[in-house]
Amino acid sequence: MNILIGISGGIAAYKVAGLVRMFVKDGHEVKTILTENAKQFITPVTLETLSRNRCYSKLFSNVRDIEHVSLAEWADAMVIAPATANTISKICNGACDDLLSNVVLALDKPCYIFPSMNTNMYTHPSVQENIAKLRQWGYMVYEPSEGELACGTSGKGRLPDTKLIYEIVIGETERAKIESPFLNKNVIITAGSTRSYIDPVRYIVNRSSGTMGVELVRHAWLRGAKVTLVCNSEVIERFPWVNYYADMIILVETTEDVLKNVVEIFGESDIYISAAALCDFGNNPAPKKIKKSQNDLTIQLKPAVDVFSELSKHKRKQIMIGFALETDDMEDHAIAKLKEKGMDMVVANTVEAIGVDSSRVAILDKRGIRKYIQKSGKRIVAGQILNEIEQIMLENDETVKNIPIRREEKETSH
Ligand SMILES: Cc1cc2nc3c(=O)[nH]c(=O)nc-3n(C[C@H](O)[C@H](O)[C@H](O)COP(=O)(O)O)c2cc1C
Repeated sequence: MNILIGISGGIAAYKVAGLVRMFVKDGHEVKTILTENAKQFITPVTLETLSRNRCYSKLFSNVRDIEHVSLAEWADAMVIAPATANTISKICNGACDDLLSNVVLALDKPCYIFPSMNTNMYTHPSVQENIAKLRQWGYMVYEPSEGELACGTSGKGRLPDTKLIYEIVIGETERAKIESPFLNKNVIITAGSTRSYIDPVRYIVNRSSGTMGVELVRHAWLRGAKVTLVCNSEVIERFPWVNYYADMIILVETTEDVLKNVVEIFGESDIYISAAALCDFGNNPAPKKIKKSQNDLTIQLKPAVDVFSELSKHKRKQIMIGFALETDDMEDHAIAKLKEKGMDMVVANTVEAIGVDSSRVAILDKRGIRKYIQKSGKRIVAGQILNEIEQIMLENDETVKNIPIRREEKETSH
């Protein structure tokens, strides 16, 4: 994809270097435009080095190429980050006194605008009215995040995390191209680990990071689903961008929390994907902190509630997908799990996949179909898992049979 990044004169301009790097690393072509004031905050040399392309700035530097038009034509999408109050106002009023504002007006591709400024500037009626107008015209203008600002105050006005900007731009562009039976389906996805407390301060946990779960959330969103993510707070801290893809996030701590919360929304759901590595063993936690002693400590654990089997009892229309993480006889154990728990499909993987970004999986479904996915990034594996779920949906549901499925959507693995 050809991505044009416009940078205006806000303090957050320096952060855009990281964004340029992310796009380039994932194989996108990047060109940058700096306003004259932005040069106070980041240099063309930095941007040219990272983008491996020219950094543009002057309106009249290369008139033979009519750059404000040729750049607009070259771009598949444009990002303006940070967008200053001044640049927003110029776009809104059609003022074209520099290269950036001219390109924006000449552009007929998606344009993603990320305002960033002092909170009082951001909440000023003039800025708010301009933003509302831009949104009406079809520009995608995103809320700044809250927190400490460079001016020493705290509030709304920070440039969102560059990884989130990256996810928004790539996600929105891919989404526009995909047609899928997932459209408007309610999907519940669990991700990460749960805790099993042994006393008020200690717990047993596993190494699951939640990577597969959040990648499944992203893919389901790309295909138009409404996704509820059920996970612990560390998953969100690790992958804050997943907020953008999930319609609702339910934070849980224990395996019992997962059951209690999912059972309430399960009836309205169409698809349940259990990607979380739930603690299988529980304990009645000691009411007080267990004291250190010279003697060995024995902790008695009992099986935790089996969330999947419990939900299976409520199954009506839902397609239910489980995961099996095995150290040996992966497929045999996974098939046994599929039958025992009433799964429509099980994704089997080995312990090598836990806590890392890539995995090799076998997808086994109740019709006896087996599919093997070679070791790949979890973003790619998640897409393939959803492709298989789409097959089940097509077989189950007459109403979605006519929707073509796009198989070769472009995968990125950042
Ligand atoms: C140190 C400093 C930091 C600034 N940071 C911001 C900012 O974060 N957001 C903003 O809208 N304006 C900020 N400004 C004001 C803009 O630089 C100013 O409005 C300028 O006209 C923007 O020009 P441009 O939109 O053409 O880049 C800052 C000014 C200074 C001196």
